[in-house]
Formats: sequence, structure tokens, C-alpha cells
Amino acid sequence: MMGLGLITLPAVLLVLCGREAAGSAPEISTSIEESTKGSLLLYCNLTDPNIVISGHKWIKGGKVLKEDTEASPIMSLNVTEGHDGSGQYTCEFQTSPVMSGLVNVTAPPHVSAYKKSEHGNEGDTGVLTCKSSSFPPVDAWAWYFVTETENMPLINGTERYIIKSSGNKTELRIEQLDIEKDQGNYMCNGTNLYGTESATIHLRVRSRLAALWPFLGIVVEVLILVTIIFIYEKRRKPDEVPEDDDGAAPLKSNAGSNHDNVRQRNSS
Ligand SMILES: *[C@@H]1O[C@H](CO)[C@@H](O)[C@H](O)[C@H]1NC(C)=O
Ligand SMILES: *[C@@H]1O[C@H](CO)[C@@H](O)[C@H](O)[C@H]1NC(C)=O
Ligand SMILES: *[C@@H]1O[C@H](CO)[C@@H](O)[C@H](O)[C@H]1NC(C)=O
Ligand SMILES: *[C@@H]1O[C@H](CO)[C@@H](O)[C@H](O)[C@H]1NC(C)=O
Ligand SMILES: *[C@@H]1O[C@H](CO)[C@@H](O)[C@H](O)[C@H]1NC(C)=O
Ligand SMILES: *[C@@H]1O[C@H](CO)[C@@H](O)[C@H](O)[C@H]1NC(C)=O
Repeated sequence: MMGLGLITLPAVLLVLCGREAAGSAPEISTSIEESTKGSLLLYCNLTDPNIVISGHKWIKGGKVLKEDTEASPIMSLNVTEGHDGSGQYTCEFQTSPVMSGLVNVTAPPHVSAYKKSEHGNEGDTGVLTCKSSSFPPVDAWAWYFVTETENMPLINGTERYIIKSSGNKTELRIEQLDIEKDQGNYMCNGTNLYGTESATIHLRVRSRLAALWPFLGIVVEVLILVTIIFIYEKRRKPDEVPEDDDGAAPLKSNAGSNHDNVRQRNSS
């Protein structure tokens, strides 16, 4: 938010578009003015009053934002200040041929993490990603490892760090994750002409053994269950033998085979 004041500067600098055309050619002059707090008014004014106009169109990123069929030589658009409204706006006068101008609305980067916390297994590659959507794109991205005392810069290609960056995204890969060294907070920092902003991501590194815990748990559970069944069957046997001789016989052999199973598992 701190760099927003700069956006109003272009209001003073009236940018003249279409200068490349011959001197006598009609021109579109553009300006940005602060309207109410938090919003900007973009203007495209056609300087030649004799041109027949049959409408206007405001376009951003290929999308038509506003359209009319009026004849005014002045067209305006209300946009929000800051990263949401930042971008390149095209104003189009429906003339023959169509005449258009370009208005750049700038803002500091709006940096955010894809995921505020990431995790990886020891030995794997960890991937942390930050993005920024504002205009103009980020000129320089930087990554830091955050400690209590300082932000340690991470240099591409050193240690196990690989950094890939573009105007709206940066990716830090950490190879061969190490629990002791790599777990902690990382900061990505994006800078353009209008300011700088950062975001923090927490990286958790899990030990290889941790991935085995659920499996070990199941093995232990099965062993306990088998033991309980075994003890239960053994205790039940003396009671049942006098009551029902026929029923006890299969139970006895079951118990015996359980006993063998346990012994085999334990010895293997
Ligand atoms: C365009 O016209 C509007 C309304 O008269 C004015 O406020 C604005 O400053 C003009 N912009 C330029 C670039 O002439
Ligand atoms: C621009 O939009 C804001 C918010 O929608 C509104 O408060 C303001 O009055 C609008 N300004 C103009 C000049 O239309
Ligand atoms: C708008 O931004 C683009 C890209 O950064 C640049 O090429 C162009 O000259 C700018 N136009 C104006 C009118 O500022
Ligand atoms: C980091 O280094 C790799 C390979 O050396 C390269 O492809 C990549 O563009 C570099 N990234 C940055 C941000 O300079
Ligand atoms: C920004 O991100 C979009 C996808 O979200 C991509 O298509 C575009 O090429 C990116 N722009 C830059 C300058 O990297
Ligand atoms: C981000 O990087 C810029 C430019 O390198 C620097 O001025 C700024 O202090 C950094 N911000 C943080 C929080 O480190």
C-alpha cells in the first residue's frame, strides 16, 4: 500500500498516444485522475472534434469492460487503485478506422505464496512458489531463509538451491531436503519500479521414518490382536471342554494354528 501515492503521478504526466502518426493526424490524449478515495478515473480524449464517433470500448487483457454507443470525444473508466486495478487498459473510439489509446495503471507488486506452508520428505526436492499479479510485472525476485537474527539471501545455483522466476511467478527448489538445515521459514521478495512486497512460506521436512509410522502401526495392531485372540482362546478352552466336547475340538485346532502363526511371524 505504501507505494500507491506514486500511481497518482501519471495524472500530472499527460501521456500522448498516437504521436507516431503524421503530425496532422488526430490524437488521443490519455490521463489518470484520482476520483474518490481508492479509485482512479482513466480518460481518453480525442483531440480532433470533427471526427464522427459512434461509440466507445474499454478493453483490458482482451476483455471488454465497458461499452457504449455515444458520440462524446471523451471516454472515461473508473478503476480501483492498487494491484486489482493495475494493468494495461485500451480505449477504443468507434471511428472509421477505429482509433485506440493505451493507459497503463501501475502498482507495486502484490506478492503472495501459492501455499503458506509446504512439506517435503527428507531427501526429496522441496518446491516453494510465490506469485504477483500486479502491473508492471516484477523486475527482480529474491529469496531468503528467515532466521531470528537475519534474512539469509539464497543464491541461485549455490548449495542445493535452484530459482526460476518470471514476471508474475518465482519458484525456489531445494534439492536433497535436510531436516536440520532446511526446515523453517522462507521469504520471497518481489520488486518493480513502484515498490517491493514479500510473502513468507513455512517449510516442514519430514523424516523418512515418519512415512513408515502408519505402516508400523498397522503391524503392531495386528500383532496385538493376534495375541489377544490367542490368549482368549487358550483361557476359554478349559471351561468349554467339559460342556461341549464336539464344539471344542475345532476351536482347539484353530488355537493351535494361531499359535504357530504367531511364532512364525515373530521368528521372521
Ligand atoms: C479529458 O477530459 C476530462 C474531462 O474534461 C479531463 O478531466 C481530463 O483531464 C482530460 N484528459 C486529457 C488527457 O486531456
Ligand atoms: C468510482 O467507483 C467508486 C467505487 O465503486 C465510487 O465510489 C466512485 O463514486 C466512482 N467514481 C466515479 C467518478 O464514478
Ligand atoms: C505501457 O506499458 C507498456 C509495457 O510496459 C509500455 O511498452 C508502454 O510504452 C506503456 N505505455 C504508456 C502509454 O505508458
Ligand atoms: C538459475 O540458474 C538456472 C540454471 O543455472 C537458470 O536456468 C535460471 O534461469 C536461473 N534463475 C534465475 C532466477 O536467474
Ligand atoms: C503470468 O501468468 C499467466 C498465467 O497465470 C501467464 O499466462 C503469463 O504468461 C504470465 N506473464 C508473465 C509476464 O510471466
Ligand atoms: C526486498 O528486496 C528489495 C530490493 O532488493 C529490498 O530493498 C527490500 O529491503 C527487500 N525487502 C525485504 C523485506 O527484505
